[in-house]
Amino acid sequence: MATPPEGPRRIMCVGLVCLDIISVVEAFPAEDSDTRCLSQRWQRGGNASNSCTVLSLLGAPCSFMGSLAPGPAAEFIAADFQRRGVDTAHVAWQPRGEVPCACCLVNAASGSRTIVLHDTNLPDVTARDFERVDLSQYRWIHFEARNAVEQGAMLERVERHNRAAAPGQRVGISVELEKPREELLPLMGRGQVVFISKDLARHFGYQSAPEALRGLRGRIQPGATLICAWAEEGADALGPDGELVHSDAFPPETLVDTLGAGDTFNGAVIFALAEGKTLQDALTFGCRIAGRKCGIQGFDGIV
Ligand code: ADP
Ligand code: FRU
Repeated sequence: MATPPEGPRRIMCVGLVCLDIISVVEAFPAEDSDTRCLSQRWQRGGNASNSCTVLSLLGAPCSFMGSLAPGPAAEFIAADFQRRGVDTAHVAWQPRGEVPCACCLVNAASGSRTIVLHDTNLPDVTARDFERVDLSQYRWIHFEARNAVEQGAMLERVERHNRAAAPGQRVGISVELEKPREELLPLMGRGQVVFISKDLARHFGYQSAPEALRGLRGRIQPGATLICAWAEEGADALGPDGELVHSDAFPPETLVDTLGAGDTFNGAVIFALAEGKTLQDALTFGCRIAGRKCGIQGFDGIV
């Protein structure tokens, strides 16, 4: 069984890692135009991977679990995980498929990010891969919904572990639903904490976070918490006893880069909840850190 380095129980994020090739532009280009950008960089991306970056910057020992395939993109990614101190013992190295890659335009004038992701043929981690995870090493496992059937089985394993474990040894479980894909929706009924994106909320026809929480509360398990972030509106949550909680956003002086704002929010909220903070404090902390992220390029400087 692959074990992460010794130390306090860690936080694991399961989901996507990809290569983001980011061009920072002065203004959004017209179709079929040929322009220069202000700057360009490679960045490790993917929701679960970005949340690990944030957790690590916040000082939480953390692990990433997802797929990679050997090659130059994976080398860059693996080196970046290492630079950030994110444990990768549970990365599943796939013998075939390509590392997902996104071309991202960040508009320096508005902070908007436009992403075109190629994510087609790299197999996702399976419940079988997940069996090698020693659950006693983790205090929290976050799942970015991607392959619902396999992730359902992974969740089942953590739930079984928790039923047998002493209260102090249980593993916190959160699930993020970002993409409005029908097959992912059952995962909303799993986990103690469920993050839904405004994209998903809009897909269901909701115009605000509180509206989405009221409309979707029936889909989470009893006693779970539902959280919905909504850009400059901040974030709202519905707690275990049905209480509604809100935090305003903390807009930076200038919005420069919103790529990964949601992943930053998720990472910061998980960090705070895993530390035993209240839902209100966690939501406020998430918005504060995500707001800082929007004011800088990349993640250095969010803490
Ligand atoms: P994403 O689209 O990256 O999933 P969201 O737009 O839902 O993320 O934003 C997540 C969090 O980031 C928000 O709750 C907020 O705290 C912060 N945030 C995002 N955009 C802005 C913005 N324009 N101004 C202030 N805060 C923002
Ligand atoms: C940001 C992000 C990027 C990645 C894309 C994948 O939330 O994770 O890093 O390119 O979304 O959908």
